[in-house]
Amino acid sequence: MDTDAVLVIGASGGIGSALTELLVASGKRVFCISRRPCSASCESMLLSEQNDSTIASCCQTMLEQGWRFKWVICHIGVLYESTMMPEKRLEDLQAQHLQRYFEVNSILPALWLKHLVGLFEPHQDARLAFLSARVGSIEDNRLGGWYGYRASKAALNMLVKTAQVEYARRVPGVQLMCYHPGTVDTPLSRPFKGGTPRDQRLSAYQAAQYLLSELQKPRQQREAIFIDWQGQPIHW
Ligand SMILES: NC(=O)c1ccc[n+]([C@@H]2O[C@H](COP(=O)([O-])OP(=O)(O)OC[C@H]3O[C@@H](n4cnc5c(N)ncnc54)[C@H](OP(=O)(O)O)[C@@H]3O)[C@@H](O)[C@H]2O)c1
Repeated sequence: MDTDAVLVIGASGGIGSALTELLVASGKRVFCISRRPCSASCESMLLSEQNDSTIASCCQTMLEQGWRFKWVICHIGVLYESTMMPEKRLEDLQAQHLQRYFEVNSILPALWLKHLVGLFEPHQDARLAFLSARVGSIEDNRLGGWYGYRASKAALNMLVKTAQVEYARRVPGVQLMCYHPGTVDTPLSRPFKGGTPRDQRLSAYQAAQYLLSELQKPRQQREAIFIDWQGQPIHW
């Protein structure tokens, strides 16, 4: 059984695909999951519809195939869709959009948290990282706006911090991580990139390199952490 493998969830997105390619190039054994085919040459599963039962059966398949992971990185996140843009003011709030933000940014990662617990060797050092966002920090919120995205990433952070308590009992080697990748040139940030000067934006490849170097650092603490791409802690 290979206990050094890496699972990438959301492997066809901007950061997810760059990270998958880096991992494969570095010789890691990678399993990737995405809604569209991923370009890297590794073992993969297409999961066009994610919900409790498809995530459960995907995890069961990996379990039966003998997969146990050292790192799992979940990239799932949405900021806008064709009929949904982040809210600028209270009048922009719509129940349907709020539900969509929570469904993708909080609930899907929570279901992965639920089903992944069996895919780690209990006492082996391992990392389970979720791509969060600095704007999900309640303490750091000075600008306002982006209600649904902020709140759903804050909810993701709370789900991860809560799950760490149970993971510590069931798979004590696993550290959970909420990770802000910086402002990265990907489809997710494209409509908003005017707000960040070019020299403060990362390419997907740079973002993946920073993420990889964070995963490689020896684990310092047992609690869940919320950190940015420079390894700096972010207030929850
Ligand atoms: N880009 C930035 O500046 C930035 C800043 C802060 C945080 N982040 C976070 O970083 C993560 C990766 O984003 P990105 O920049 O790489 O954007 P992206 O290219 O738009 O990728 C979005 C990711 O979310 C997944 N996803 C979206 N909707 C989904 C759904 N309905 N069901 C399942 N998976 C879904 C995609 O999975 P598939 O591979 O299956 O398509 C993909 O991995 C997100 O969580 C985002 O919130 C990004």
